[in-house]
Amino acid sequence: MPITEEPVHSALSADLLGILRCLNCGERLEGDSSGGFDCPACRRAYPQVNGIARFVDAQHYAASFGFQWHRYQKTQLDHDEVLEADRHFRRKTGLRPEELQGKLVLDVGCGMGRFAEVATRWGARVVGVDLSLAAEVAAKNLPDREFIAMQADVFALPFAPESFDVIYSVGVLHHTPDCEAAIKTLDKYLKPGGVLAVWLYSGYNKWYRFSDFWRRYTHKMKPETLHGVLRVAVPFFYHLERGLQRIPVLGKPMAGAVHHVFPVNRQKDPEARLLDTFDWYSPKYQSKHTYEQVFRWYEAMEMEDMRIGESAIAVRGRKPARRA
Ligand SMILES: C[S@@+](CC[C@H](N)C(=O)[O-])C[C@H]1O[C@@H](n2cnc3c(N)ncnc32)[C@H](O)[C@@H]1O
Repeated sequence: MPITEEPVHSALSADLLGILRCLNCGERLEGDSSGGFDCPACRRAYPQVNGIARFVDAQHYAASFGFQWHRYQKTQLDHDEVLEADRHFRRKTGLRPEELQGKLVLDVGCGMGRFAEVATRWGARVVGVDLSLAAEVAAKNLPDREFIAMQADVFALPFAPESFDVIYSVGVLHHTPDCEAAIKTLDKYLKPGGVLAVWLYSGYNKWYRFSDFWRRYTHKMKPETLHGVLRVAVPFFYHLERGLQRIPVLGKPMAGAVHHVFPVNRQKDPEARLLDTFDWYSPKYQSKHTYEQVFRWYEAMEMEDMRIGESAIAVRGRKPARRA
């Protein structure tokens, strides 16, 4: 699709004005002359800065993601024949084009917008929220789509109840201080009959243990410093493992041991490898989950038609059409 100068999400802008609510008093918001929003009731203002409306005053614990998605703006974005995000989106949400066509969709923790790109390509009108400055990158990446990005926190979303047909969140809620509370807060914004799909890190992988140990230190580093360290460490450990694997008999177990103690991403593309390793070691919060846990949370929300996706831990469910 051509990149246009002006955003083309007029239908979505009208949708958004109907559902936006003040975080302070819950009243309907109005657009202001600068592209931000004002509350006519309590006068609280939500300014637009760098092209997106701000519903938080800072990135809080998510600053490393702001750095990450500004540094790797398009690495994971689908283009030409590369449809990796499309594949991940299907495996991690179970959603299909026909379910999103014409629907109003919320992307929670949209990052640089790779899944909003897929959802809008499938015909959805998508609102993307992210706690970090990644929302700026998402807006810049998708100017020609029915997509609006905003900087907002999943725990304080500026929307009326029952606003969205579909809500998805891929790789996000385990990075909040309370994954269960984050999932349960989303139920409120879903229309009756709407679908909630989440993908979380799996608690079944035991090799996470060493990286959890290193993360205790790495998440405290400045993102720029950690990125500098990983620029050296990732190629070092990646090539060390590959070198060890060539040694007969003992090579493979030795390579396995190195990977166990110093896990780095093993993708072929060096940039994707560095990005995903940074994404692994930089977050302050990174919880892991099981299907039993997530199903319990969905059951507590009285969700129906619960299904698992192809890539653990992927769970989707439907809000009952009418709740008693
Ligand atoms: C690993 S990234 C995933 C981004 C995107 N979903 C993707 O898969 O490309 C996690 C994202 O969650 C965002 N995030 C973390 N806590 C959040 C919160 N409380 N509210 C909204 N977004 C949050 C981060 O800023 C970050 O962009």
